[in-house]
Amino acid sequence: MDRPIGMFDSGFGGLTVARALIDLLPNEHLVYIGDTGRYPYGPRPQAEVREFARQLAWSLVKDHEVKAVVVACNTASAAAIDDLKAELPVPVIDVVEPGADALVRTTRTGHVGVIGTVGTIGSGAYDRAVAATGAQVQLTSAACPGFVEFVERGQTEGEEIRILAERLLAPVHDAGVDSLLLGCTHYPYLARTIGEVMGPDVVLVSSADETAFAAREVLGRLGLLRADGGEPARHTFLSSGDISWFADLGGRLLGPELRNAEQWHHH
Ligand code: DGL
Repeated sequence: MDRPIGMFDSGFGGLTVARALIDLLPNEHLVYIGDTGRYPYGPRPQAEVREFARQLAWSLVKDHEVKAVVVACNTASAAAIDDLKAELPVPVIDVVEPGADALVRTTRTGHVGVIGTVGTIGSGAYDRAVAATGAQVQLTSAACPGFVEFVERGQTEGEEIRILAERLLAPVHDAGVDSLLLGCTHYPYLARTIGEVMGPDVVLVSSADETAFAAREVLGRLGLLRADGGEPARHTFLSSGDISWFADLGGRLLGPELRNAEQWHHH
């Protein structure tokens, strides 16, 4: 089917999922909205994040006629996934469940960890998703306020991030987890520092690839994948904030598919 796949995040984080999706399904048209005008979502009340998520998802459906919505933001998934699945007329793919599945598949010792925003960790979404897998694991969670802000400013390495990471990762580090899920789509951009602080024996699990696999599975099952051989895939990026900053930093984070950004308005 020729219609695009829609995707949204509070800002640049969902580009980790977009990268994985473009690599796995290079033939698919994609429309991505980064809500940089209203980021960060992490500290906001759940009801507010839910409302933002509904606005973005409905805009993808109505204005861009997407055939599926990928919620490329853990905070929005945690707050709104049930509502979105119930009300949208297209399939909805989230990042929480694929990430939890990958985490329990990865661990050898059964001691696993997840890090995310205050909103995501406070929601208990990962406790429920990990329990739903049925795996006998012990989960330690830690919120990492501040990580997202560094990425949104275009800073992904350096002493300040390292100092913050040492403090925020202490609970999962001290719990002796052998696998750590990056439960926020911004965090793969900080993976080098997170990996150094956790040490070489801890496997970092990113939900980006797993979510792309989930999207392929759902679209394939429903017969919605785009056939080969037509025009090249179109990748469209919108931002509710400064679009030249979105194109500039977004292009550096995602790669050459992101050259321009268009303005997104809620209406
Ligand atoms: N990338 C988001 C997430 O996955 C969001 C962060 C934020 O805006 O605080 O949780």
